[in-house]
Amino acid sequence: MPETITSEQRQAYDTALDFAEGQVAALVVNHPDYFPIYTVEGKWRHPGELWTDWTGGFLAGMMWRFQQRTGSAAWQERAEHYSKLLEHRQHDRNVHDLGFIFLNTYRPWYQLTGDPQLQEVLIQAGRTLAMRFQEKGQYLRSFVAPESLFIDIMMNVPIIFYAGQEANDPALLAVALAHCDTTARTIVRPDGSTAHEGIFDLETGEFLRQTTHQGLRDDSAWARGLAWSLYGYSQVYGFTQDAQHLEIAERNARYWIDHLPADNVPYWDFDADLTLPPPRGAQKDSSAGAIAASGLLDLARQTESPDKAAEYQRVALAMLDALVSPAYLAASDAGWEGILKHGVYHTDKNLGVDESVMWGEFFFVEALTKAVMAR
Ligand code: GLY
Repeated sequence: MPETITSEQRQAYDTALDFAEGQVAALVVNHPDYFPIYTVEGKWRHPGELWTDWTGGFLAGMMWRFQQRTGSAAWQERAEHYSKLLEHRQHDRNVHDLGFIFLNTYRPWYQLTGDPQLQEVLIQAGRTLAMRFQEKGQYLRSFVAPESLFIDIMMNVPIIFYAGQEANDPALLAVALAHCDTTARTIVRPDGSTAHEGIFDLETGEFLRQTTHQGLRDDSAWARGLAWSLYGYSQVYGFTQDAQHLEIAERNARYWIDHLPADNVPYWDFDADLTLPPPRGAQKDSSAGAIAASGLLDLARQTESPDKAAEYQRVALAMLDALVSPAYLAASDAGWEGILKHGVYHTDKNLGVDESVMWGEFFFVEALTKAVMAR
């Protein structure tokens, strides 16, 4: 990272991480072996719809981040336990989220211990995700339909690169590269914004149109989707060292920085009409801010431009400064079980709107941990 954080930032980030540890510790005591997705009025346990079961790696992933910051044996034990509960998902063909689930759990576990059985799970998860590949169209299909590609998959395709490189399997690497190329060609726009979904003709493989599930409109810039693309292409560049992948992440970053509101927390969609009330108008999505902050901290190390590196770090830390403030950190709300308030899951379905969401928790913890552990 170009510069270190100030002592005030270090104190605020450590305080937020201490609070995060307390909230996760309370969650595992109050709801043992439970993997929540979003809160309802600040409570993790509720009968609300899941839409899709994709967030287990974020709870276990936070535990690994806590272990990294503190070296705590207790967090390692919990992290191993919660990671192990996810092991069967290595064969799960119902979701496109195996990168989220395994890269945040089995990878840090493997990095710490070098146990080859953990590496086998990671490689199998990559192989399973690659089975979603549509030859016609050259993309990994989303969980909703064979003709559908989601921008979210850019955060999961890294596990196929990982498996391909570790198992020395060119076929896996070819699938991963093709998916990145197709995504870039179809749903990453020239101005750096992204569509949520691309729809393909299953007979010919031809790309038909950009659409959305969770954004405002088919042609709008859903904030979290843009964050997935920015961070996803940054991770992919880490595997490929292909300048095209870095260029896409930087194009996403340019759009993000140029459209971020002055208070440094994004609205749920960059095209939302802010004269309208939430949920479809002026609704923040803190989780998108946390994801982008973590991605920008990595991009600051990857870019070849010192000016851009300084800018990415400055914006990432400005977003984190906003998220650790009392308006977002749940520390002053005694009954709130989450860490970070004002996230959004699915606006159209009215799921987890203005709530804590498990990916917001994880990427907030991840970004803060990166910031405090940077040398
Ligand atoms: N479907 C992943 C997300 O809500 O971002």
